Amino acid sequence: KKDLLTTTELSTGEIARILDMAQSFAEGKEWRPKGLRFVANLFYEPSTRTKSSFEVAERKLGLEVIPFEVQTSSVQKGETLYDTIKTLESIGADAVVIRHSIDNYFEELKGRLKIPVINAGDGCGHHPTQSLLDLLTIRQEFGGFQGLKVAIVGDIAHSRVARSNADALTRLGAEVVFSGPPEWFDQDAHSKGYRFVNIDEAVSSSDVVMLLRIQHERHGGNENVYLDSYHRHFGLTAARERTMKKGSIIMHPAPVNRGVEIDDALVECSRSRIFKQMQNGVFVRMAVLQRALENKEGGNKYVIAN
Ligand code: CP
Repeated sequence: KKDLLTTTELSTGEIARILDMAQSFAEGKEWRPKGLRFVANLFYEPSTRTKSSFEVAERKLGLEVIPFEVQTSSVQKGETLYDTIKTLESIGADAVVIRHSIDNYFEELKGRLKIPVINAGDGCGHHPTQSLLDLLTIRQEFGGFQGLKVAIVGDIAHSRVARSNADALTRLGAEVVFSGPPEWFDQDAHSKGYRFVNIDEAVSSSDVVMLLRIQHERHGGNENVYLDSYHRHFGLTAARERTMKKGSIIMHPAPVNRGVEIDDALVECSRSRIFKQMQNGVFVRMAVLQRALENKEGGNKYVIAN
């Protein structure tokens, strides 16, 4: 059973294989599972890109998407995550895609399910498909990762993207540096030996400037000190963009706080790969779904006792 819970659990070989599969989908490859396959997308936290692109990916693969909305489900009657998924498994789901606000929510599911779980983001923990689509975008641009310098800038402490990307990029041979408000450079990143540099150095010396959204919903109102000054102190201003290396690119997982992490006019500038990332999200999610379903025997069958 091929879960995808974190990028940390993927070897560099497995990452390369998923990126190759995604690239093939980007180039028009088609793949269909044998017979009817059902997938449910459970989003306990809001999403636009991840939810929509999983759904597009599922439909492109000919999968049947079981409509599931947390707000109108029995989650509202107190049904637990485990019981909800066990129910969907019993009904016939062949895989589930889950976004949840609790870090590592998937720990309670390990070893208890027959169907694969694809993590679409857990709290401040991990966002493996975002990480894979970021890697695909970088690989398309530079052909690989060895020797690249990637600056991850902003709300590191609350970012599941920062964690997933820093780990994978480092293992693939890139140098990762962090920048932004120093108090958001968390102990975890510090203890893993990542360098923290000021924003001007980060922007002017990197091949990839990866900006992170300020995660207002995870700050408990304590970030207001930066509301007016963040862009000037830590954002990608038009003046800073002019210092970027030739051929370097701008990335952001989005949603973007325009005029905060990045100047409004830069969101769609020639260096920006923000919308390319979203496009690649569909291909990466097709690859991850194929990986989850390709070796599965036809249908999620149960023997009916007489
Ligand atoms: N990048 C990302 O995960 O966006 P959504 O929250 O809209 O899915």
